[in-house]
Amino acid sequence: METDCLILGIETSCDETSAAGVKDGKQILSNIIHSQIPVHRRFGGVVPEIASRNHIVKINEVVDSALKEADVTFADISAIGVTAGPGLVGALLVGVAFAKAAAYAAKKPLIAVHHIEAHICANYLSSNLCPPFICLVASGGHTHLVYAEDYDKYEIIGRTRDDAAGEAFDKVARAIGLPYPGGVEIEKLAKDGNADAYVFPAAMKNDTDFSFSGLKSAVLNFINSTKMNGEQFSRPNLAASFQKTVAETLVSKAISACMQKNCKKIALAGGVSANGEIRRLMKQAAESKGIEFFVPPTVLCTDNAAMIAERAFFSFIKGKFAGLELNAYPNIEMGAL
Ligand code: KG4
Ligand code: ZN
Repeated sequence: METDCLILGIETSCDETSAAGVKDGKQILSNIIHSQIPVHRRFGGVVPEIASRNHIVKINEVVDSALKEADVTFADISAIGVTAGPGLVGALLVGVAFAKAAAYAAKKPLIAVHHIEAHICANYLSSNLCPPFICLVASGGHTHLVYAEDYDKYEIIGRTRDDAAGEAFDKVARAIGLPYPGGVEIEKLAKDGNADAYVFPAAMKNDTDFSFSGLKSAVLNFINSTKMNGEQFSRPNLAASFQKTVAETLVSKAISACMQKNCKKIALAGGVSANGEIRRLMKQAAESKGIEFFVPPTVLCTDNAAMIAERAFFSFIKGKFAGLELNAYPNIEMGAL
């Protein structure tokens, strides 16, 4: 699938302002990520209005740096790919407005990218994975089990009915006094804990859908009742036990989906896939069933624009472009852009 193609990717759907240059759908020339985490941390989570304002402040600088690091100018770009949804509407609008203006001024085609599809495509940047495969996308806003039939064709096999896996990590972390974003903090704390110390319920065991709000409530109830009884609990043990329950749920459903589709390849995507324990358990389970396992490096698991450029590449080679009427779509389904 070699073409002479350079895509500028732009991502502003949540709290990372990112721009990247990706050549021929394979080579990352630059991937600049400006994280707003320090700004949002004191509020315990992302404040949408603050996120939008910070994207506006940073977007020019981030795109400039991405072009400089790739050693190209707008004239060298084949197309501009931008996240059009899902995400925070005000945050998305900053990237979309910037990409439209740049596409118009530089006379370049514009490509609308679905954020979750882009997370899946991060795998193509770090391996020789090709469809079909099963992908578990677990992030702060989404938990989807997807059958990737082709580079631009996806079937959703299961999804969360309530909280996303990352959201559960963030809420449990907050309850035990860890800063935002909680996933990585829980992982660090869990390293000193015993994962079998506490038993929490795993919901919807025999279903392809997920539910994490029951688990989150069970952990919060445990913390409250322990405190009310004047007892102590071990934070590392709690972090490890919670992490293990999430990991086992994600792994067992992803492996079942592979069996159901008779598929021999499984991939991880999204911020939660940065978790070492989830990566380890998924690899172990996949290998025991003769399933090949793929996961991007952590920098390509969390939000970044290289994955946006990568997803845009597959639209580019099919000539699928967006018009300047492109809007931001905060709740758009996969396949709808
Ligand atoms: O994909 P992402 O960067 O943004 C969204 O599209 O949501 O995912 C962010 C989520 C947060 O909930 C964060 O706590 C979680 O991914 N996360 C992790 C880890 N690193 C990030 N969760 C568990 N373990 C990690 N190491
Ligand atoms: Zn994301």
